[in-house]
Amino acid sequence: MSGDAPTPVLFDCDPGHDDAVAILLALGSPDVRLLGITTCFGNCAVEDATRNAQRVLALVGREDVPVAVGAAGPMRGELALGNYVHGVSGLDGPDLPEPTVAPVDETATDFLARCLTESPEPVTVVVTGPMTNLGELLAERPELTGRIREIIFMGGSTERGNHTPTAEFNTFADPEALDVVLRSGVPLRMVGLNLTHQALATPEVVERMSAMPHDVGRTCAAWMGFFGDSYERIWEFAAPPVHDPCTIVPLLDPDVIGWRNCFVAVELDGTWTRGTTVVDLFDRLPDHEPNVAVALELDAERYWDLVLAALDRLGSA
Ligand code: BDR
Ligand code: CA
Repeated sequence: MSGDAPTPVLFDCDPGHDDAVAILLALGSPDVRLLGITTCFGNCAVEDATRNAQRVLALVGREDVPVAVGAAGPMRGELALGNYVHGVSGLDGPDLPEPTVAPVDETATDFLARCLTESPEPVTVVVTGPMTNLGELLAERPELTGRIREIIFMGGSTERGNHTPTAEFNTFADPEALDVVLRSGVPLRMVGLNLTHQALATPEVVERMSAMPHDVGRTCAAWMGFFGDSYERIWEFAAPPVHDPCTIVPLLDPDVIGWRNCFVAVELDGTWTRGTTVVDLFDRLPDHEPNVAVALELDAERYWDLVLAALDRLGSA
């Protein structure tokens, strides 16, 4: 938040159109210091997610940000991919520059462990894909929990799902990994569909992107076109919900999202409900202490002002 030192952030993602906007939001925000990006399967295969993260960095001349390749599949269960939403490449739409820098020569979990260990202060970890990298890290290296200031993740819902009727895609894709993280004792903030469905890229928002006199704005507008077509075709949305940047905005403005501390668990065994988050909004499970700050209300106008200002700052630099 302005005036304070920028928040050091490790960003774990599966880009993905909304992940890509979230990366740009982080890069365009002076309140965030992006230490590195780790990738995961999810919206596409991990090789494509890695290439997409690198192409986004190349678009804005920030290939100095290290990228580490993460999990190709979940800790348990079958591989789920989101190409049906994000296209063949995982980031279909406008042409992007190809990467000129290779990923770092470490796995995502080794990279995360090293960054957390070397940082002079605890680091905020943002996760906008399946939780696999963090689940593996905290299962193998539980002593690192104290090095994480908090994990802010896009996943789950207090209400309905999207990949299945009850489960959101990221939590469906690796419930065992999320379960490790939910039990870890690390401070957690959950940004689920109930919140991100308030972050709609309306025609007015897309017009503000298009009107920017640079490639960053025009590229984001074109991404919203592809993403919006998917959302209209699959879920009958009139405008696409831009989920993943909702994990970054609380680092820029503490009042843009309203939160409630709740007990949250994830269903591992349900016949129809595997990957569904169970959120105890009204303290119906009094034997279970709150373990997550759950996002409930979004100031959508302020959200878009923050996102668009960062995109314009980045594109104008
Ligand atoms: C989540 O899944 C992906 O489609 C998006 O990138 C987002 O992280 C929404 O369910
Ligand atoms: Ca994502």
